[in-house]
Amino acid sequence: MIIAIDGPAAAGKGTLAKRLAAALGLPYLDTGILYRATAKRVLEAGSDPADVSAALRAVQGLGEADLRRGDLRDAATSKAASQVASIAEVRQALLHFQRHFGGRNGAVLDGRDIGTIIFPHADVKLFVTASVEARAARRHKEFQDRGESVTLDDVIADVQARDEADRTRAAAPLMMAMDATLIDTTEMDADEAFAQALRLVQAKTR
Ligand code: CDP
Repeated sequence: MIIAIDGPAAAGKGTLAKRLAAALGLPYLDTGILYRATAKRVLEAGSDPADVSAALRAVQGLGEADLRRGDLRDAATSKAASQVASIAEVRQALLHFQRHFGGRNGAVLDGRDIGTIIFPHADVKLFVTASVEARAARRHKEFQDRGESVTLDDVIADVQARDEADRTRAAAPLMMAMDATLIDTTEMDADEAFAQALRLVQAKTR
């Protein structure tokens, strides 16, 4: 079984995907990590994340250790991740890994193009979103919990800029698949979002 979870920045896709994967006994892949780790390699090489050949070198050299790093969620890496993610060659280089991951034993994957490009025939497609204020407030709390000082206004601006870039790029833009189900978590906590998603999965796969 393949469960595709897409949506804009900080919508709570990761939390939901992890809980669904645990409940269903499926492997979980946070595909954002692939773009974040690629971006980190570009930044650490002192290159520009918009430079196609630098981004390609970074993605081609990506290894397990890059994906396990604990420092991929800061604002600079998030922005650079969105930049490298707009490069079609980078997305192409990551396509096989994602399909292979899901193809072995099924999986829950979260990202931007899972239901549209990576697994267009996924068994269940969810598009998880929330108001920009709700998403930024949650992301701001994550930063605070990690001891990183960022203002809420900066987080709102970052989230909006990244969503705009992700929605308007030519390569695999962020969009809801025609056959996806929308979950708006603006007024929901993580437990409610999980309960709703699980009901949907059970109804679709019964
Ligand atoms: O956690 P958050 O929603 O903020 O971001 P993420 O899922 O870790 O993704 C970081 C960036 O990677 C996004 O802004 C996208 O530009 C890109 N991305 C993508 O293009 N396609 C994916 N399947 C996953 C992430």
